[in-house]
This record gives sequence, C-alpha cells and structure tokens, in this order.
Amino acid sequence: MEDRGAEPRNTLSVRDNRTGKDYEIDIHEGDVVRAMDFRQIKVNEDDFGMMAYDPAFTNTASTRSRITEIDGANGILRYRGYPIEQLAEKSSFLEVCYLILKGELPSQDELDEFVHHVTFHTYAHENIIKLLNGFRYDAHAMGIVTSSVAALSTFYPEAKEVHDPENRWIQIIRLVAKMPTLAAFAYRHHRGLPYIYPENELSYTGNFLNMLFRIGVKEYRANPVLERALDVLFILHADHEQNCSATTMRVIGSSESDPYSALAGAMAALYGPLHGGANEAVLRMLNEIGHTDNIPDFMDSVRRGERRLMGFGHRVYKAYDPRANIIKKTAHEVFEVTGNNPLLDIALELEKIALQEDYFVERNLYPNVDFYSGLIYQAMGFPVEMFPVLFAIPRTVGWLAQWEEMLEDKEQKIARPRQVYVGEGQRDYVPVDQRG
Ligand code: CMC
Repeated sequence: MEDRGAEPRNTLSVRDNRTGKDYEIDIHEGDVVRAMDFRQIKVNEDDFGMMAYDPAFTNTASTRSRITEIDGANGILRYRGYPIEQLAEKSSFLEVCYLILKGELPSQDELDEFVHHVTFHTYAHENIIKLLNGFRYDAHAMGIVTSSVAALSTFYPEAKEVHDPENRWIQIIRLVAKMPTLAAFAYRHHRGLPYIYPENELSYTGNFLNMLFRIGVKEYRANPVLERALDVLFILHADHEQNCSATTMRVIGSSESDPYSALAGAMAALYGPLHGGANEAVLRMLNEIGHTDNIPDFMDSVRRGERRLMGFGHRVYKAYDPRANIIKKTAHEVFEVTGNNPLLDIALELEKIALQEDYFVERNLYPNVDFYSGLIYQAMGFPVEMFPVLFAIPRTVGWLAQWEEMLEDKEQKIARPRQVYVGEGQRDYVPVDQRG
C-alpha cells in the first residue's frame, strides 16, 4: 500500500474505479465502518448501491454490546469487564447471572432478593408434565427441553409485552428458574423415573442435582465438590457474545416474539454439533477412539480432512480458550471425588498432539470449552444426551441479556439481511404437459 503521507484522519478513502469517483467513509471506534455508508457508492442513480457480502458473518458486527468481551488473540473472556478466571474462582452462578443481566455485581440485599425470586419460580405448570409424557422414552433431552421452553410461551401470554421492562424481568426470572426443572424432568422421563419437584432451600445447582439424581430416599444432598463444579461450569457457559445461538435469540427477538419462543430458537441453534452439541460429539468421538493406540489412525483422518477433532477450534479464539483452562482444573477436582474418567488419557493425548503438530498449530486449533466439559459431566453421571442441555441452562442467562440489550438498542430493527441473487432471470411458466 502506498503511504501518501496525508494528515491522519479517522476516515477511509475509497475510489470506485468504475466511475473514478472518490468517497470518504468514517471510521468509528473499534476500526468499524458502517455498511450503510457504502450504499452511496453507485455506478448511476438507478443503481442499488454497494453492499458487503459476508457469508456466516465472519467479519461483520451486528451490534454494539456491553455484556461480554472476548479478545480471541489473547485468550481473554470478561463478563461486564470482570475476567472469567476471577468469576469462576470467587463468584457463584446466580451472582454472575445478576451481573450479566443487570451490568453490575449485586449488593448482598440485591443478591438475596434475586436468589429468592429465582428459587420461588422453579416450579413448572403441571401440564408441562403432560407434554413430556407425549415424548418417547428415547427422545433426545435437548428436543424435549427445547419443546418445553417453546410451550411455556402459551402459559405466559403476557410475555408478548416485550417493551415493558417489568414484564420482561418476570419472564427472565421464570426462565432462569425453570430451566433446571425442565432439564431434570427431561432426564427423569428418559430414565422412566418419577419427576422430583424443586426444593427451595437448596442452591441452584444443588436443587438441580437433587431433581436429577434423588432415587429411593427422602433426602438427597449432592456432594459439595460436584455441586460447586457444576456451578463453575455454569459460570463458564453463561454468555459468549454474538455466537450462533445468541444471534438466533436476537434475530427471533427482533420481530418482537415472546422470550420463550425466541429462547427455544436459540436452543435449537445451540443443539448443533458445531456449537453446543460439540460436548456430546466430543464424548462420542472419545468413545469411538476407545484407546490411545487408535489415536494415530484417527488423527490421520483429521489431517486428511475427513473428520473434525471435536472440541477443538473456535471462530473467535485463536489462542487457548480460557474456559478450557478452568475446566481442566475443575475436571481434576471432580475426578478426585468420582474417580478418573478412563477417556481422560485419550483426551490428554489428543491435546498434546494437537498443540505440537503443524496441521493444528497453523489453523490455531486449541481445545475449546467443550473438550473437557463432557468428561466432567460423564463422571458426574450424566448421559451424553444431557450435555447440550447442561450448556443451555446457564446460556439462558446470556441469551436473555442479549435479547434485552437488543430490545433497548434504538439502532436495532427487525433483523433482515440482504442477499446477492444468483438464480434464474425472469422466465415464463410452462404447463406441466408441455415441459420437456
Ligand atoms: N478439527 C479439524 N480441523 C478443523 C477443526 C477441527 N475441530 N476446526 C477447524 N478446522 C480446520 C478447517 O477444516 C479449516 O481448514 P482449511 O483451512 O484447511 O479448510 C480451518 O481449520 C478453519 O476452519 P473453519 O471451519 O473455517 O473455522 P470456523 O471459524 O468457521 O469454525 C468451529 C469454528 C468451532 C465451527 C470449528 O472449529 C469446528 O467445527 N470445531 C469443532 C466443533 C466444536 O468443537 N465446536 C464447539 C465450539 S466452542 C463452544 C461454542 O461456543 O459453541
């Protein structure tokens, strides 16, 4: 690029070589140009104007956000400015929920009130159980919970009043509170076990574990190490800025759908193996590899591009995912209680190879949040079908915060991308008996 030695200005000079016209486009904070500023670039007045083509939004910001900051080059993740490492070590999931939703850490009174509200909204309407009974015993837990969340919108028709902040807050509390109940019910349905109702005196994760695993005893108390490990995992999964499911939540919410319907859509986006379904896919992959002896063959197929190493790679992180570091430490704490997960050796060996070999190093393929989380979930007794659900419960908070931020943002409108039409031009309809 030629340096013309001009006075520095926060603008971009663009010459359209089709017309010889020059344009000056403003550069905003964060090296951002507004796509609409390019619309003025036209060959003639009838022209639509220039637009950006960006499949999969790899270089397009769709919003300004104050919730979560990721510095992918340096492996940094912060919620509302607080480093994920500090929150995982010192905070609790419900405190982090409050932080993400409200923007600040709560005072003790604020936290107590929030915990109280979440605790007292954990029950789901009994008709949800009738809905659950319609699913086959082997229905995937994610399908059951996604459908149950969508069904909740019919129980709370007032949730449609999305521009009323007080109304929104009630729905947010309901969703955060009921997700563990719906998830536990899905698990019990799958196992053919009676549903266990929420217990208000237990912690968020303690209550969840009770609803999942209490069998044949009046009182079940989760091991405190496992209860805390799940709380930490929930903190790590609470939000991750404009990922596939958060974008889905915003896009659906932008048409002013109620939050239950939008959240069911976000869950559907999370379900895929390239996103939140990756934790399940990792476990299936480790099981398939079966033994460290089989790793070389498996890695050959990855290098040939036939397979993906699930739990590796990330659109934003081009360094070690900071959540994976914390999860690895948590895994060791959990295994001290549950005994080692035999798949850990395979996982460690895969990571060792990937961190050294050119194929992975050149493509910045580091372990992501999903690589070790499944090993912990399995050691805690969860079947693989529950893994994406365990991602969806805490991510509910992020989705809701992103949804609220979108609704309050005066610049946002109904989401509606453009396309570059490359299909047929106009042609005349031919009756079926005249088609060749
Ligand atoms: N294993 C092997 N090769 C990979 C992998 C992988 N896991 N991920 C990316 N690559 C290769 C890919 O083949 C491509 O190679 P080439 O340039 O030779 O064509 C290159 O790396 C870039 O890949 P990409 O698909 O363009 O990258 P992306 O940013 O579009 O995809 C990703 C990101 C997460 C979808 C992808 O890395 C992947 O499929 N990972 C496995 C699934 C996974 O673990 N997902 C969980 C993500 S973290 C949890 C969450 O927030 O959802």
